[in-house]
Amino acid sequence: MRIEKKYNIKSLNTFAIDTIAEEVMFLEQKEDFADASKLIANSDVNHLILGGGSNILFTKDFNGILISIENKGIKIVEDGEYFALVSFSAGENWHNSVEYCVHNGYYGLENLALIPGKIGAAPVQNIGAYGIEQCDFLHSVKAFFDGEEFEFLAEDLKFGYRNSIFKDEKYKKYIIYEVTYKLHKDKEKINTSYKDIREFIQKKDIIKPQPIDIFHAIINIRQAKLPDPAIIGNAGSFFKNPVYDAHLVSKLQIKYPDMPVYSVDDHHSKISAAYLIDKAGFKGFRKNDAGVFNKHALILCNFGNASGKEIFNLSEEIIHKVREIFGVTLEREVILV
Ligand code: EPU
Repeated sequence: MRIEKKYNIKSLNTFAIDTIAEEVMFLEQKEDFADASKLIANSDVNHLILGGGSNILFTKDFNGILISIENKGIKIVEDGEYFALVSFSAGENWHNSVEYCVHNGYYGLENLALIPGKIGAAPVQNIGAYGIEQCDFLHSVKAFFDGEEFEFLAEDLKFGYRNSIFKDEKYKKYIIYEVTYKLHKDKEKINTSYKDIREFIQKKDIIKPQPIDIFHAIINIRQAKLPDPAIIGNAGSFFKNPVYDAHLVSKLQIKYPDMPVYSVDDHHSKISAAYLIDKAGFKGFRKNDAGVFNKHALILCNFGNASGKEIFNLSEEIIHKVREIFGVTLEREVILV
């Protein structure tokens, strides 16, 4: 197993925060997963499992073992007439995997194109965008704990909005090794529930849209409003869309009738965090190299050499201001380390 000491992890986090980890383990082979999982299960050493580092903010040097997931491989496990089971090694890049599926006739994940990160991180926080969540297609996950391999079926994983059992303390020491999706093969089955997708299809005069068209629509939509982390350091949505009591939300809507609200269940509604941050005046705001993207208020950016602390301070400022104006408390989606 490749191990580096006192390693600069700027390239391992999409915020491009220039910081040092005490030790980094790069897991490539199955044995590396077994060894690393044994080590963390049997010691109190501070550790962190890193996928693409695309949902994390390092506010200081990391004093412990950083586990970087690097295994590669895509396998077609079952290929039926209507469905296929496709397994991806946890270290595979998410977007490249989605692209592989669309080009090979395995459909469903196309709405999740261009999400930064690696396969292994997708079930942990149940990534979602443009009308779907990865749990809609997840079949099973293989993970190592204390040197042994375990398999979880989708129904064991308690998926919720940006949530799964892998966020529970009990499962924090499981290292995801492989993720299998059950994908369909129907070229006519697409998800256009998101307004921007329908508008793209109309604008392009596509009569019978197929999954590949959705894939292109998503790339277009995302590139128009989200910064490319390879160019501007960021971790996607910095905050979650807050879920509140539906009564409280409808009271707020009287004051702010243009506020986007999504129903969660009979008693709860989700408010657009981007709207709140935008209305609070932060869109395009910048303090040194830490700022808010000018085309989407939910994206905090490192425009050059911002420290994790500067980004954190900006997020605190946003939380306070939004609470002061709307009485709503934003919760970070990004993990703080
Ligand atoms: N809006 C503003 N100002 C802005 C941006 C947006 O007022 O600067 C309003 C618009 O009215 C818009 C609404 O906010 O209609 C919602 O914006 P958007 O459609 O971009 O979605 P979002 O709720 O901000 C969520 C996910 C994204 C995902 C998109 C698309 C969360 C925290 N974020 O964003 O996920 O791509 O929906 O489905 O749930 C991520 O998690 O990193 C991520 C990018």
